[in-house]
Amino acid sequence: MARDEQHAAPPLAVPRPRARATLVRARALGRLARDAALAPVYRAYAARLRSAVLAHPVPQHVAVIMDGNRRWARELGLRGIRSGHRHGAARAIDVLDWCAALGIREVTLWALSLENLERSADEVEAITEIARETLEALADRDRAHRLQMSLQVIGRRDLLPPRLREAAERGENETRGRPGLRVVLALGYSGRDELVEAARAAVRSLLAEGTPPEALADALDAGRLADQLYTRGSSDPDLIIRTSGEVRLSGFLPWQSAYSEFYFCDAYWPAFREIDFLRAIRTYQQRARRFGR
Ligand code: IPE
Ligand code: IPE
Ligand code: MG
Repeated sequence: MARDEQHAAPPLAVPRPRARATLVRARALGRLARDAALAPVYRAYAARLRSAVLAHPVPQHVAVIMDGNRRWARELGLRGIRSGHRHGAARAIDVLDWCAALGIREVTLWALSLENLERSADEVEAITEIARETLEALADRDRAHRLQMSLQVIGRRDLLPPRLREAAERGENETRGRPGLRVVLALGYSGRDELVEAARAAVRSLLAEGTPPEALADALDAGRLADQLYTRGSSDPDLIIRTSGEVRLSGFLPWQSAYSEFYFCDAYWPAFREIDFLRAIRTYQQRARRFGR
């Protein structure tokens, strides 16, 4: 045997792909079973956490990158493209209740990016249908006074499938001016696209005011640009939460997040629990925000 081979470490016992999938599934099912068994304990813990969190100022505006729907479904061995997104949508509605219970004023939920519209036609179709049903469920809850809220959809609505665009418009019209939670749903949203469109709109508005072309560059300032963002007139997010263990923004609110606090959490979005949410808020309360001062 060659010398190198004699001293080589024994090969790691890497499970074969099929065995690995079974192991991953067993672990995911184990987590589900543990969560179900511990539900009463979680409820008591959530109540304790909620009162601890309510003893301090809560963020006014929370934004969430709801990520990990497909991995959640895949690990559980669920077939089909819908199940992860369907469970994710149900979780989004829960989050609104959790926010309302804390007196948070505004929630921005990123449900679909512009890039996500490039996924397979089947997946885009499934997400469209689920998002449309979710918008209708939200309007129903508002009608039934279960959760008073006003809804705004941000993103490239001109590129959304027509049924989703119509549901977004209906939801906005039905809830316009309502008191209560302000819910912003980002659909077909990309931060780079928002910035490019805002710069174009700002230049157009300067030209319409009669600014000579040679003075355009100097006339464009932060205020002018911010006035053309989807979020004009609303507050920047105090806290941005991303689930699924990814530590990146993927283009979410690049302008508005300049002084946001970030919280990254390993749970896949459909498995995000109220205690995970309350821990994010508690972590936010422990941060020192300085805004450059
Ligand atoms: C987030 O989950 C929902 C959308 C982006 C539409 P994903 O679909 O990105 O699921 P993962 O991150 O691949 O698990
Ligand atoms: C970001 O998640 C978009 C949403 C959660 C809606 P992605 O899954 O699309 O982002 P990447 O591809 O992991 O960066
Ligand atoms: Mg993802």
